[in-house]
Amino acid sequence: MLTYEQKEMFFFFIWFWLILGVERCSSVSYNRLTVKTGGSVTIPCYYDGKYTHQKKYWHSENNKSSTYTNTTEENLSVIDHPDQSLFTVTIRNLQSTKHDGGYYCALKIEGKPTLIYDIYLQVQSAPDVSVMSSSVSGHEGGHISVQCFYTLLRYKNNVKQWCRYKDQRCYTVGRTNTSQNSSVQISDDGRRSFTVLMTGLRLTDSGWYYCSVGEALNPVQLTVIKTEPDKEKDIYNELLTVWLPVSSVLLLSVILISVFIWTWRRRHKQDKQQKREINSSRTTDMIYSKPEDPPIYNDINDENPNDPNKDIIYYSTIDFVPGSEAVKPPEGAIYSIIYSTVDPH
Ligand SMILES: *[C@@H]1O[C@H](CO)[C@@H](O)[C@H](O)[C@H]1NC(C)=O
Ligand SMILES: *[C@@H]1O[C@H](CO)[C@@H](O)[C@H](O)[C@H]1NC(C)=O
Ligand SMILES: *[C@@H]1O[C@H](CO)[C@@H](O)[C@H](O)[C@H]1NC(C)=O
Ligand SMILES: *[C@@H]1O[C@H](CO)[C@@H](O)[C@H](O)[C@H]1NC(C)=O
Repeated sequence: MLTYEQKEMFFFFIWFWLILGVERCSSVSYNRLTVKTGGSVTIPCYYDGKYTHQKKYWHSENNKSSTYTNTTEENLSVIDHPDQSLFTVTIRNLQSTKHDGGYYCALKIEGKPTLIYDIYLQVQSAPDVSVMSSSVSGHEGGHISVQCFYTLLRYKNNVKQWCRYKDQRCYTVGRTNTSQNSSVQISDDGRRSFTVLMTGLRLTDSGWYYCSVGEALNPVQLTVIKTEPDKEKDIYNELLTVWLPVSSVLLLSVILISVFIWTWRRRHKQDKQQKREINSSRTTDMIYSKPEDPPIYNDINDENPNDPNKDIIYYSTIDFVPGSEAVKPPEGAIYSIIYSTVDPH
């Protein structure tokens, strides 16, 4: 018993082959996508932006199976990217026996299947056309270069192109065409590869391209990365919006704290000054000494032993005492000054 879906598919095939089979016979040939055995490939299927909400699928003519978008299996992913008007098909673990054959991308418009892209997949130990990487990226305004290899000698004289999937616009080796932009240059080494150089990249250059030699091709995805708009300006803006207010607040706090400490210390000092005045008044007694006398220690009443100024050197003025042998002032001198260090207790 066939399910509704299977029946639908069955009738669709008959219809599809009647309508499109004719068209296909008249066209030159399939595009041949040659890929390496055991490798994987991603095929882009672009659709008209107005069909964003339509059902899209990938169909294999080999096993007559369809895979709808947003399906991920072990060896097959079909993912829609409505923002880019395309869905991509990724096939992994490619085997010639299993995967060689015709495929197509289609979507359903009012229930009617509509072909949007078809391709013949050919898995080979040495693909006819290949690229180092199927994904390249460059910066806006920058450049990228892609080397496309062709292995078969018979391709030597075939037309070699670099084409964009979206609009099927191609750049051809050795052909000067005024409609071709100078931002794309292709050079062929004539033996095994040709190189595509794209300069002055724009964001709109992003998308899928392919290298082709004759009817063999290989897809390449190009991603153009947006360049940051003027970094210096950003730093300046950051300086204005973040660092200036922060440093202002910091500076203000420092000033406030300084003022507070200053007033506090001033008050503290005034108290000390008063205390010291009281202390010094006690040490103004006259001290008399004889040469044989032991050293005189000034006894200063230090009421605060934790005073940070306790190591200070006090200068005490000692009047010259007549009769003292130790200090003989020169003629005329009335007194000499003796510096004495006061040790705290
Ligand atoms: C995926 O590919 C590998 C290698 O060919 C195979 O062994 C495996 O069965 C495949 N998986 C599915 C789900 O087909
Ligand atoms: C498929 O996935 C993409 C995101 O990867 C999402 O934007 C889109 O709406 C999905 N489509 C369907 C039919 O679920
Ligand atoms: C130049 O390019 C246009 C469009 O890509 C094409 O129609 C035309 O035939 C080309 N001319 C030559 C001389 O290749
Ligand atoms: C060629 O360059 C012009 C100006 O840079 C641009 O407007 C035009 O779209 C470009 N053509 C292609 C095919 O990229």
